[in-house]
Amino acid sequence: MTTTISNIHARQILDSRGNPTLECEVTLSGGAAGRAAVPSGASTGENEAVELRDGGEPWGGKGVSKAVAHINNEIASAVKGKDATDQTSVDTTMINLDGTENKGNLGANAILGVSMAVAHAAANAENKPLYAYLGGEDAHILPVPMFNILNGGKHADNTVDFQEFMIQPWGFDDFGEALRACVEIYHTLKNVLHDRGMSTAVGDEGGFAPNLSDNEEALRVIEEAVGRAGYSWGEQIFVALDPAASELVSEARKLGKEGYCFFSSDPEKVISSEEMIDIWSDWCARYPIRSIEDGLGEDDWSGWKLLTERLGSKIQLVGDDLFVTNPAFLDRGITEGSANSILVKVNQIGTLTETFEAVKLAHKNKYTAVLSHRSGETEDTTIADISVATNCGQIKTGAPCRSDRTAKYNQLIRIAEQLGDRARFGV
Ligand code: PGA
Ligand code: ZN
Repeated sequence: MTTTISNIHARQILDSRGNPTLECEVTLSGGAAGRAAVPSGASTGENEAVELRDGGEPWGGKGVSKAVAHINNEIASAVKGKDATDQTSVDTTMINLDGTENKGNLGANAILGVSMAVAHAAANAENKPLYAYLGGEDAHILPVPMFNILNGGKHADNTVDFQEFMIQPWGFDDFGEALRACVEIYHTLKNVLHDRGMSTAVGDEGGFAPNLSDNEEALRVIEEAVGRAGYSWGEQIFVALDPAASELVSEARKLGKEGYCFFSSDPEKVISSEEMIDIWSDWCARYPIRSIEDGLGEDDWSGWKLLTERLGSKIQLVGDDLFVTNPAFLDRGITEGSANSILVKVNQIGTLTETFEAVKLAHKNKYTAVLSHRSGETEDTTIADISVATNCGQIKTGAPCRSDRTAKYNQLIRIAEQLGDRARFGV
């Protein structure tokens, strides 16, 4: 068979923050090959699969030579000889070889590198683009991006507590037009900030990271940029937020308190879950917010239920740290009526098979799914293809700035071109 895995090789490379990560190359007996690189988060959920790092002094403890060695030794021995087109079998072999719930033995970074590279190799062997190989004939929906244009929290060193202020172009029929609008707004936002004497330096995901007088000012400067760029606020352009509230909870705990700490703007200020919900509810009444991700912390299940009761009929409430792309946590959310959407990050769970399972479970239960990058990325564009393969309809992959982010948008431009008239946007 020409799709038998004949060789696997991994190496350590650098991610967008200059930290080590790994990439993996898989070669098949017929000569086809595939390569994939693994992303890395900063505001990670406590239940994510384990990212194996070397520790010690070199690379600030962030080396991945152990994970690389796991691929080149144990994983290669177990997976060589398998059929690359049987993704489930390859992934299950690695899950069993690891033998833990959280992929702590081999490292989810090691397992994911192989899982993604195997898919790329199989797609190449079949002469198909990755989205078509993974999604089949039905893959045709171009995702509506969430462009992270203003950064705070753990992704920037400014006075903004909430991590991500994003714009989402729902009022367009065409991916290219939507992309252009958001790029124009991004550049106009730079001018708005410049005119106000604010910094136009960018954070980890390419969004601007100015010091603002309060968190809500982020919405006001974005509203100004949308208007100045000539687009309509609340008709063409909407807001998506990711305050990454688990980080506010951790900061409160460092002070010995329970609640949500405004660690960047006012480190003494700690508010309750109900008060957080009041902020979201007030903002949703005054701004065109369509989506809030991690509006509460990952352990605050009772708060999530309340938040979903208050806002869930109108607003997309996305569980990132809450669900960690894990069907088991999503299942709890579905049962308890918490959130109505899942953020999907391949390295939170560690295999493509489980990633697709999470999306399927979400869709089956009328939850939306949003494919997502991590704050530490590479030039790898696998998630762009997965977003189309799953027809999930939304992707979050940063500002339209910095090659690690634009690589995904550029891949979507290529996919849009390939799909031609078959493509649908914003459905
Ligand atoms: P992370 O942040 O990749 O640093 O975890 C992204 C997010 O919270 O969505
Ligand atoms: Zn998040």
